[in-house]
Amino acid sequence: MTGEVPPADRAKSAAAAQAVQHIKSGMRVGLGTGSTAERMICHLGKRVREEGLNIRAAPTSARTADLARRLGIDLIPPAEVRHLDVTIDGADEFDPTLALIKGGGGALLHEKIVAAASERMIVIADASKEVSTLGAFPLPVEIIPFGWQSTSALIGNALEKIDIPGREIRLRRAGDAPFVTDEGNHILDLHLHRIDDPRLVSRALNRIPGVVENGLFIDLCNTVIIGHADGRVETRDLSTGAVEQTHVSLAGAERLCPHL
Ligand code: A5P
Repeated sequence: MTGEVPPADRAKSAAAAQAVQHIKSGMRVGLGTGSTAERMICHLGKRVREEGLNIRAAPTSARTADLARRLGIDLIPPAEVRHLDVTIDGADEFDPTLALIKGGGGALLHEKIVAAASERMIVIADASKEVSTLGAFPLPVEIIPFGWQSTSALIGNALEKIDIPGREIRLRRAGDAPFVTDEGNHILDLHLHRIDDPRLVSRALNRIPGVVENGLFIDLCNTVIIGHADGRVETRDLSTGAVEQTHVSLAGAERLCPHL
Protein backbone atom coordinates (compact mmCIF):
# COMPACT_ATOMS: atom_id res chain seq x y z
CA MET A 1 0.00 0.00 0.00
CA THR A 2 1.36 3.47 -0.82
CA GLY A 3 1.75 6.65 1.20
CA GLU A 4 -1.25 8.36 -0.50
CA VAL A 5 -3.73 5.98 1.08
CA PRO A 6 -5.39 7.76 4.03
CA PRO A 7 -4.42 6.32 7.44
CA ALA A 8 -8.05 5.42 8.23
CA ASP A 9 -8.24 3.32 5.06
CA ARG A 10 -4.96 1.55 5.88
CA ALA A 11 -6.34 0.83 9.35
CA LYS A 12 -9.53 -0.66 7.87
CA SER A 13 -7.45 -2.84 5.54
CA ALA A 14 -5.37 -4.11 8.46
CA ALA A 15 -8.48 -5.16 10.40
CA ALA A 16 -9.97 -6.73 7.25
CA ALA A 17 -6.82 -8.74 6.46
CA GLN A 18 -6.67 -10.12 10.00
CA ALA A 19 -10.40 -10.96 10.12
CA VAL A 20 -10.31 -13.33 7.15
CA GLN A 21 -7.76 -15.50 8.98
CA HIS A 22 -10.72 -16.62 11.15
CA ILE A 23 -12.41 -18.21 8.12
CA LYS A 24 -11.87 -21.92 7.43
CA SER A 25 -13.00 -24.11 4.53
CA GLY A 26 -16.52 -25.41 4.95
CA MET A 27 -17.74 -22.34 6.85
CA ARG A 28 -20.94 -20.44 6.15
CA VAL A 29 -20.02 -16.78 6.46
CA GLY A 30 -22.10 -13.60 6.81
CA LEU A 31 -20.65 -10.73 4.82
CA GLY A 32 -21.19 -7.22 6.18
CA THR A 33 -21.71 -3.95 4.36
CA GLY A 34 -19.61 -0.77 4.25
CA SER A 35 -16.09 0.26 3.36
CA THR A 36 -14.38 -1.92 6.01
CA ALA A 37 -16.47 -4.97 5.15
CA GLU A 38 -15.75 -4.47 1.45
CA ARG A 39 -12.02 -4.61 2.16
CA MET A 40 -12.61 -7.84 4.08
CA ILE A 41 -14.60 -9.31 1.15
CA CYS A 42 -11.69 -8.51 -1.19
CA HIS A 43 -9.28 -10.37 1.14
CA LEU A 44 -11.72 -13.28 1.35
CA GLY A 45 -12.06 -13.39 -2.46
CA LYS A 46 -8.25 -13.61 -2.68
CA ARG A 47 -8.22 -16.62 -0.34
CA VAL A 48 -11.00 -18.28 -2.39
CA ARG A 49 -9.09 -17.74 -5.63
CA GLU A 50 -5.57 -18.48 -4.44
CA GLU A 51 -6.03 -21.06 -1.68
CA GLY A 52 -9.22 -22.72 -2.92
CA LEU A 53 -10.94 -21.74 0.35
CA ASN A 54 -14.34 -23.41 0.12
CA ILE A 55 -16.99 -21.25 1.77
CA ARG A 56 -20.57 -20.14 1.21
CA ALA A 57 -21.57 -16.61 2.13
CA ALA A 58 -24.68 -14.65 3.10
CA PRO A 59 -24.44 -11.02 1.97
CA THR A 60 -26.08 -8.21 3.99
CA SER A 61 -26.84 -5.91 1.06
CA ALA A 62 -27.22 -5.86 -2.70
CA ARG A 63 -23.91 -3.98 -2.90
CA THR A 64 -22.10 -6.65 -0.89
CA ALA A 65 -23.74 -9.45 -2.91
CA ASP A 66 -22.60 -7.84 -6.13
CA LEU A 67 -18.99 -7.48 -4.93
CA ALA A 68 -18.85 -11.04 -3.56
CA ARG A 69 -20.24 -12.45 -6.80
CA ARG A 70 -17.66 -10.55 -8.85
CA LEU A 71 -14.89 -12.00 -6.64
CA GLY A 72 -16.10 -15.56 -7.15
CA ILE A 73 -17.55 -16.10 -3.64
CA ASP A 74 -20.43 -18.58 -3.61
CA LEU A 75 -23.61 -17.00 -2.19
CA ILE A 76 -26.29 -18.63 -0.03
CA PRO A 77 -29.82 -17.75 -1.19
CA PRO A 78 -31.67 -15.73 1.54
CA ALA A 79 -34.19 -18.55 2.14
CA GLU A 80 -31.33 -20.92 3.01
CA VAL A 81 -29.40 -18.68 5.40
CA ARG A 82 -30.69 -20.05 8.77
CA HIS A 83 -27.40 -20.93 10.52
CA LEU A 84 -24.06 -19.26 9.83
CA ASP A 85 -20.71 -19.98 11.50
CA VAL A 86 -19.56 -16.39 11.61
CA THR A 87 -20.40 -12.92 10.34
CA ILE A 88 -17.75 -10.27 9.75
CA ASP A 89 -19.04 -6.72 9.54
CA GLY A 90 -18.05 -3.11 10.21
CA ALA A 91 -19.65 -0.79 12.74
CA ASP A 92 -20.24 2.91 13.20
CA GLU A 93 -19.50 2.70 16.94
CA PHE A 94 -18.67 -0.01 19.46
CA ASP A 95 -18.53 0.26 23.25
CA PRO A 96 -16.62 -1.80 25.86
CA THR A 97 -19.40 -4.43 25.98
CA LEU A 98 -19.30 -4.67 22.16
CA ALA A 99 -22.74 -3.13 21.82
CA LEU A 100 -22.78 -1.46 18.42
CA ILE A 101 -24.38 1.27 16.39
CA LYS A 102 -24.75 0.13 12.79
CA GLY A 103 -26.64 1.30 9.74
CA GLY A 104 -24.56 4.24 8.57
CA GLY A 105 -24.56 2.52 5.19
CA GLY A 106 -28.30 1.84 5.39
CA ALA A 107 -28.07 -1.97 5.59
CA LEU A 108 -28.87 -2.44 9.29
CA LEU A 109 -31.92 -4.68 8.80
CA HIS A 110 -30.20 -7.36 6.73
CA GLU A 111 -27.07 -6.93 8.86
CA LYS A 112 -29.01 -7.67 12.06
CA ILE A 113 -30.82 -10.67 10.56
CA VAL A 114 -27.54 -12.14 9.31
CA ALA A 115 -25.73 -11.41 12.61
CA ALA A 116 -28.56 -13.01 14.59
CA ALA A 117 -28.29 -16.16 12.45
CA SER A 118 -24.56 -16.40 13.22
CA GLU A 119 -22.84 -18.31 15.97
CA ARG A 120 -20.25 -15.56 16.17
CA MET A 121 -20.07 -11.94 15.01
CA ILE A 122 -16.70 -10.29 14.42
CA VAL A 123 -16.64 -6.53 14.05
CA ILE A 124 -13.78 -4.97 12.12
CA ALA A 125 -12.97 -1.31 12.58
CA ASP A 126 -10.36 1.37 12.88
CA ALA A 127 -9.77 2.82 16.33
CA SER A 128 -12.02 5.86 15.71
CA LYS A 129 -15.10 3.63 16.07
CA GLU A 130 -14.36 2.82 19.73
CA VAL A 131 -16.40 4.85 22.25
CA SER A 132 -17.00 4.62 25.99
CA THR A 133 -20.74 5.33 25.51
CA LEU A 134 -22.71 4.90 22.28
CA GLY A 135 -24.64 7.75 20.70
CA ALA A 136 -22.34 10.39 19.20
CA PHE A 137 -23.02 8.71 15.84
CA PRO A 138 -26.68 9.27 14.84
CA LEU A 139 -28.69 6.10 15.46
CA PRO A 140 -30.25 4.78 12.22
CA VAL A 141 -33.79 3.41 12.45
CA GLU A 142 -35.38 1.62 9.48
CA ILE A 143 -39.06 2.54 9.06
CA ILE A 144 -41.65 1.70 6.45
CA PRO A 145 -42.49 4.57 4.07
CA PHE A 146 -46.24 4.51 4.84
CA GLY A 147 -47.03 7.19 7.41
CA TRP A 148 -43.36 7.81 8.16
CA GLN A 149 -44.14 11.28 9.53
CA SER A 150 -46.40 9.71 12.13
CA THR A 151 -43.78 7.07 12.98
CA SER A 152 -41.23 9.84 13.37
CA ALA A 153 -43.55 11.75 15.74
CA LEU A 154 -44.12 8.59 17.82
CA ILE A 155 -40.36 8.08 18.04
CA GLY A 156 -40.05 11.69 19.24
CA ASN A 157 -42.65 11.00 21.97
CA ALA A 158 -40.87 7.82 23.04
CA LEU A 159 -37.53 9.64 23.24
CA GLU A 160 -39.05 12.32 25.46
CA LYS A 161 -39.73 9.65 28.06
CA ILE A 162 -36.11 8.48 28.02
CA ASP A 163 -33.32 10.45 29.61
CA ILE A 164 -31.07 11.22 26.64
CA PRO A 165 -29.52 14.56 25.69
CA GLY A 166 -30.53 14.77 22.00
CA ARG A 167 -33.84 14.20 20.24
CA GLU A 168 -33.34 15.52 16.73
CA ILE A 169 -34.73 13.15 14.08
CA ARG A 170 -33.79 13.46 10.42
CA LEU A 171 -35.12 11.51 7.45
CA ARG A 172 -32.08 10.23 5.55
CA ARG A 173 -31.95 11.49 2.01
CA ALA A 174 -30.20 10.40 -1.18
CA GLY A 175 -29.99 13.62 -3.14
CA ASP A 176 -33.47 15.13 -3.42
CA ALA A 177 -35.36 11.96 -2.50
CA PRO A 178 -35.61 9.94 0.70
CA PHE A 179 -32.97 7.20 0.98
CA VAL A 180 -34.45 3.78 0.16
CA THR A 181 -33.09 0.58 1.74
CA ASP A 182 -32.77 -2.81 0.03
CA GLU A 183 -36.21 -3.61 1.52
CA GLY A 184 -37.77 -0.45 0.05
CA ASN A 185 -37.91 1.29 3.44
CA HIS A 186 -36.65 4.66 4.73
CA ILE A 187 -34.13 5.49 7.44
CA LEU A 188 -34.52 8.01 10.25
CA ASP A 189 -31.25 9.16 11.82
CA LEU A 190 -31.68 9.91 15.53
CA HIS A 191 -29.21 12.46 16.87
CA LEU A 192 -29.18 11.37 20.50
CA HIS A 193 -25.60 12.39 21.43
CA ARG A 194 -25.40 9.80 24.22
CA ILE A 195 -27.17 6.48 24.79
CA ASP A 196 -26.66 5.41 28.41
CA ASP A 197 -29.11 2.50 28.22
CA PRO A 198 -29.01 0.96 24.72
CA ARG A 199 -31.40 -1.86 25.70
CA LEU A 200 -34.05 0.58 26.86
CA VAL A 201 -33.73 2.69 23.72
CA SER A 202 -33.79 -0.36 21.44
CA ARG A 203 -36.90 -1.79 23.14
CA ALA A 204 -38.70 1.57 23.08
CA LEU A 205 -38.01 2.05 19.36
CA ASN A 206 -38.96 -1.46 18.24
CA ARG A 207 -42.36 -1.17 19.98
CA ILE A 208 -43.44 1.67 17.69
CA PRO A 209 -45.67 0.79 14.71
CA GLY A 210 -43.82 1.57 11.47
CA VAL A 211 -40.39 0.86 12.96
CA VAL A 212 -38.88 -2.19 11.29
CA GLU A 213 -35.57 -2.32 13.20
CA ASN A 214 -33.05 -0.05 14.85
CA GLY A 215 -29.27 0.10 14.48
CA LEU A 216 -28.39 -0.91 18.06
CA PHE A 217 -26.73 -4.34 18.03
CA ILE A 218 -26.72 -5.69 21.58
CA ASP A 219 -25.39 -9.13 22.63
CA LEU A 220 -24.66 -10.00 19.00
CA CYS A 221 -20.96 -9.25 18.69
CA ASN A 222 -18.31 -11.26 20.59
CA THR A 223 -15.10 -10.15 18.92
CA VAL A 224 -13.70 -6.87 17.69
CA ILE A 225 -10.65 -6.52 15.46
CA ILE A 226 -9.18 -3.04 15.55
CA GLY A 227 -6.77 -2.13 12.76
CA HIS A 228 -4.13 0.61 12.78
CA ALA A 229 -2.56 2.42 9.82
CA ASP A 230 0.87 0.85 10.42
CA GLY A 231 -0.51 -2.70 10.17
CA ARG A 232 -0.85 -3.33 13.91
CA VAL A 233 -4.03 -5.19 14.79
CA GLU A 234 -5.67 -5.80 18.15
CA THR A 235 -8.22 -8.61 18.54
CA ARG A 236 -10.45 -8.57 21.61
CA ASP A 237 -12.56 -11.60 22.37
CA LEU A 238 -15.34 -10.75 24.80
CA SER A 239 -16.23 -14.36 25.64
CA THR A 240 -12.70 -15.35 26.74
CA GLY A 241 -11.41 -11.91 27.71
CA ALA A 242 -8.36 -12.55 25.49
CA VAL A 243 -6.62 -9.62 23.82
CA GLU A 244 -4.17 -10.42 21.04
CA GLN A 245 -1.79 -8.05 19.27
CA THR A 246 -0.59 -8.92 15.77
CA HIS A 247 0.82 -7.20 12.71
CA VAL A 248 -0.35 -7.66 9.13
CA SER A 249 1.40 -6.67 5.92
CA LEU A 250 -0.49 -4.06 3.93
CA ALA A 251 1.59 -4.61 0.79
CA GLY A 252 -0.72 -4.99 -2.19
CA ALA A 253 -3.86 -4.26 -0.15
CA GLU A 254 -4.62 -1.24 -2.31
CA ARG A 255 -4.58 -3.29 -5.51
CA LEU A 256 -6.84 -5.89 -3.92
CA CYS A 257 -9.73 -3.42 -3.62
CA PRO A 258 -9.29 -1.12 -6.62
CA HIS A 259 -12.87 0.16 -6.45
CA LEU A 260 -12.42 1.63 -2.95
C1 A5P B 1 -23.78 -0.44 6.99
O1 A5P B 1 -25.15 -0.33 7.06
C2 A5P B 1 -23.17 -0.14 8.33
O2 A5P B 1 -23.71 -0.83 9.39
C3 A5P B 1 -21.66 -0.31 8.28
O3 A5P B 1 -21.25 -1.55 8.76
C4 A5P B 1 -21.08 0.75 9.11
O4 A5P B 1 -21.66 1.95 8.68
C5 A5P B 1 -19.56 0.83 8.99
O5 A5P B 1 -19.22 1.27 7.71
P1 A5P B 1 -17.73 1.62 7.35
O6 A5P B 1 -16.95 0.37 7.46
O7 A5P B 1 -17.82 2.13 5.94
O8 A5P B 1 -17.27 2.68 8.29
